[in-house]
Amino acid sequence: MIDVNEIRKDFPVYQNHANLIYLDSAASALKVKDAIDQVDYYHKVLGVNAHRGAYHLAFETTQLYEAARSTVARFINAAEDEIVFTRGTTTSLNMVAAAFRDILNEGDEIITSELEHHSSLLPWMMTAKKTKARLVYVPLTPEGRITASAFQSVLSDKTKVIALTHISNVMGYRTPIEDIVKIARTKDVVIILDAAQSAPHMTLDVKALDVDFLAFSGHKMFGPTGVGVLYGKKHRLSQIEPFEYGGEMIDEVHLEDATFKPSPMRFEAGTPNIAGVIGFAAAIRYLERLGMDKIDAHVAALTRYTLDKLSQVEDVTIYNPKDTHSIITFNIKDVHPHDASTMLDQHHIGIRSGHHCAHLVARFLNTPATIRASFHIYNDFKDCDALVEGVIKTRDFFQSF
Ligand SMILES: Cc1ncc(COP(=O)(O)O)c(C=O)c1O
Repeated sequence: MIDVNEIRKDFPVYQNHANLIYLDSAASALKVKDAIDQVDYYHKVLGVNAHRGAYHLAFETTQLYEAARSTVARFINAAEDEIVFTRGTTTSLNMVAAAFRDILNEGDEIITSELEHHSSLLPWMMTAKKTKARLVYVPLTPEGRITASAFQSVLSDKTKVIALTHISNVMGYRTPIEDIVKIARTKDVVIILDAAQSAPHMTLDVKALDVDFLAFSGHKMFGPTGVGVLYGKKHRLSQIEPFEYGGEMIDEVHLEDATFKPSPMRFEAGTPNIAGVIGFAAAIRYLERLGMDKIDAHVAALTRYTLDKLSQVEDVTIYNPKDTHSIITFNIKDVHPHDASTMLDQHHIGIRSGHHCAHLVARFLNTPATIRASFHIYNDFKDCDALVEGVIKTRDFFQSF
């Protein structure tokens, strides 16, 4: 069993905001003390560059940075040279899509979905425009899911890229990626998985998933902002061009030409976010100590409990009533989501309102904006009760005019 009171001691935000009911972890999770301490350690004790100097501080910095790469590799069952540190999921996905501007041709097809976060959709939309490739959308089920059979219906000999979300940041539903990959492997395709919402809760094994690229962000996993990961199968990483050129990614430079290091260094031009990377690794070790299965079970229990209670509240529309992960998206009749968010804030509840960087999902749901509550390991059933009570008070307040 998870002891939430004990867990909260690991998240200093609760010491500064004792009444906080934080239900916006899908946007960014709270930061764990282990990660904060590592960032602090780097700034106070090291403070120098990685991969460059030959003095002992530089050596320790490089060691910590590369140990972080091993931590991430172990976390998703990858090899170290398949892990590229980036600014976050957005950068990781842009890196791959930008490289495909030199690979795709007119008429090639990119399979995507209306469930994508803008950072999974827009890079491919722009690549499609530049190359005259075509975006092809997997038809969603009426409740808003991607299914393997719907995927199969759009797969063709023209498909070259499959770019899908693992867990939708609005619907919370999980894409049956294992089934999709099995079907897709009958064609010569590259599969990119946006794991921004799955990496914080689930065990990810890239060997079992068998995707070509996978992206996630540190800040949704108790780590610092400004750091994330692009995983790529070794042979896939060597097929794509670097996104940026500069320091520490070259082999040799001549007057007219240059050669580049192998992955991952060829994708990490310039001084990296050293503090962020080692802080992120500390956050991952914390997740591992808790156990991803325990985390998944805890947030799933909170989600089910809240869905059950919220579905009994009159004038509340829940858009993903069957979610089993960590996200509940809903609206209150005659209350704008931003007003609801402001009102709930008065009860110390932090939730998200808006389109959640996923316009196509809002269009699918036929509503310009929704309220989204999302859970993590520091939430308990009292938080769920507070949300439901807050929603009732918000409804009654706005409907009283
Ligand atoms: C599913 C999904 N993909 C991508 C992103 C983008 O992540 P980041 O802003 O950390 O780059 C998010 C962030 O909310 C997300 O939920």
